Amino acid sequence: MSTRAVVLAVGHYTPERVLTNADLEKMVDTSDEWIVQRTGMRERRVCSENETTSTIAIAAAREALERSGLAPEAIDLVVCGTVTGDMWFPSTAAHVQRALGLVNAGAMDVGAACAGFIYSLSVGSAMIEAGHAKRVIVIGADALTKFTDYTDRSTCILFGDGGGALVLEGQENTDRGVLHTVLFCDGNGIPHIDLEVGGSRFPAGSRQAEGRRTKIYMNGNEVYRFAVKAMGDACVRCLEQAGMSADEVDLFVPHQANIRIIESAAKRIGLPDDKVFLNIDKYGNTSGGSIPLGLYEAERTGRLRKGMVVMTVGFGAGLVWGANLIRW
Ligand code: UT7
Repeated sequence: MSTRAVVLAVGHYTPERVLTNADLEKMVDTSDEWIVQRTGMRERRVCSENETTSTIAIAAAREALERSGLAPEAIDLVVCGTVTGDMWFPSTAAHVQRALGLVNAGAMDVGAACAGFIYSLSVGSAMIEAGHAKRVIVIGADALTKFTDYTDRSTCILFGDGGGALVLEGQENTDRGVLHTVLFCDGNGIPHIDLEVGGSRFPAGSRQAEGRRTKIYMNGNEVYRFAVKAMGDACVRCLEQAGMSADEVDLFVPHQANIRIIESAAKRIGLPDDKVFLNIDKYGNTSGGSIPLGLYEAERTGRLRKGMVVMTVGFGAGLVWGANLIRW
């Protein structure tokens, strides 16, 4: 009998500070009406000066671990999907390992931008299925507002901070767990979303970095066009490869980047509105944080219950994209 990575518990964290559309109206030339119509966003959460991505990751992982009932010693691995780690290194996962006293765990970050959780869940569940780990904490956490240009109205209205975490356990003789994952990348999309300064091409403070961007750049239209197709394609491929149909999906928890992108993906696979989970109005685009935050809220509000099939899908800088099917 094969081993499945079963979700034992989910946790989350969002900063207290709220940034509303009305706040943004005072910062750039925009309007509540434009933002709501074009994106579905009304407010988002923003880290304080003292909060970082590890603040989010640690709090989310702590809640998930507590709710799982497991001891810290039981965890074998931490995988954190983030592109806004506290520092280039060490990893954010290492901060989680220390803060939670996970004395038997390895720790690593996965860099897949807004698809960070999709990729991390794939890594965590594959480690369990391969027998390299028994219990894994998978996190999606980002603090994009730290890298947001609040003079650029085309991007600053979109981003918020937050994240979530799952505790996974390898179990046999179960139909629950991560059923299937698909992962994709098209590196030709590299120029469409980036943050130039800080890496080895334009090291911070170097001559090469002069005049380069220190905040997030995005060609929204290109990403939008790509995302509409990629989200639908990933769902179709994931279902096909798992030998399942859209009717078997009880809940759809997509990356919350734009309500119009989500609606077109749901339409493409024929999912009715009541199966689509949305919290974009409250949090905006929290990058790798959005899907686990959605899973957390869906469970807490009773929309996601044990035994249900949930499909997640996300896309982001790279361009990368993918989807997971999980029986909760
Ligand atoms: O997580 C992955 C990362 N990224 C994404 O998922 C983003 C994908 N892209 C999008 O969601 C959309 O492209 C945006 C929401 C970013 C933009 O929406 P759009 O419908 O594609 O608008 P647009 O860029 O075509 O701009 C339409 C107009 C432009 O004015 P003109 O040229 O028609 O006069 C923009 O200058 O809207 C203007 N505009 C704004 N107006 C008011 C752009 N941003 C704003 C704004 N407020 N914040």
